[in-house]
Amino acid sequence: MPAIQITGLRKSYGGFDAVRDVDLTVEPGRVVGLLGPNGAGKTTTLHVLLGLAAPTAGQALVQGRRHGDLDDPARTVGALLDAGGLHPGRTGRDHLRILTLAAGLPAGRVDDVLEIVGMTPAADRRVRTYSLGMRQRLGLAAALLGDPGVLVLDEPANGLDPAGMRWLREMLRSFADGGGAVLLASHVLAEVTQVADDVVVLGQGRVITAGPLDELVRDASLEDVYLDLTATTAGVR
Ligand SMILES: Nc1ncnc2c1ncn2[C@@H]1O[C@H](COP(=O)(O)OP(=O)(O)OP(=O)(O)O)[C@@H](O)[C@H]1O
Ligand SMILES: [Mg+2]
Repeated sequence: MPAIQITGLRKSYGGFDAVRDVDLTVEPGRVVGLLGPNGAGKTTTLHVLLGLAAPTAGQALVQGRRHGDLDDPARTVGALLDAGGLHPGRTGRDHLRILTLAAGLPAGRVDDVLEIVGMTPAADRRVRTYSLGMRQRLGLAAALLGDPGVLVLDEPANGLDPAGMRWLREMLRSFADGGGAVLLASHVLAEVTQVADDVVVLGQGRVITAGPLDELVRDASLEDVYLDLTATTAGVR
């Protein structure tokens, strides 16, 4: 069973199709990059997958189920959406403690995930003092709390420096090599080509092209396809 299976997904807002006819599969052990210009429908797709928005048509399943039907969502899928929802006056550690309590996870996971994302030294500082990259690492720590087999990440490399980028790449690689599945949305081609095994290119809500990264780079010259897409559609609708 695929870890993530999206079929015929459409999401409209007042007659406007933010996403249309999207098919996408993430098998265990794979990192799939959802690449598209601003406004292409990446975040909308992830929102439907995570049960934050209802599909207009089609479906988006995690481990064969809609997110809302999962027995134990926190242990099944970890998500990083945007790092904006953090309480500025709380410490990073407290933020993770609250999430751990809410999800019924063992308290010891907090230290584990802080260590994994390299945030142990800053764990007791207030979030308001964090840099963008540190917030992003905290968000990744939160996604890892339930030790899930599936990660859904929206623009995870935002704000990461080159060392942070390399760390993210290696972390996702070892996660996938251990049988995990990753769906990562980004508007930055280089981020996707650095970490993804498979790529789905989204433009104006539709799948423009999809396949294994090496094939797309070789056969379609992914860079040209993406440059054309960003130039001609200008993404934002
Ligand atoms: N709640 C909403 N109501 C109305 N329109 C929406 C809503 N959410 C998204 N849209 C529209 O759907 C389209 C896709 O937006 P989405 O956020 O999915 O794009 P994206 O690919 O994530 O872009 P970005 O790279 O800027 O994050 C946009 O035109 C956006 O304005
Ligand atoms: Mg987005």
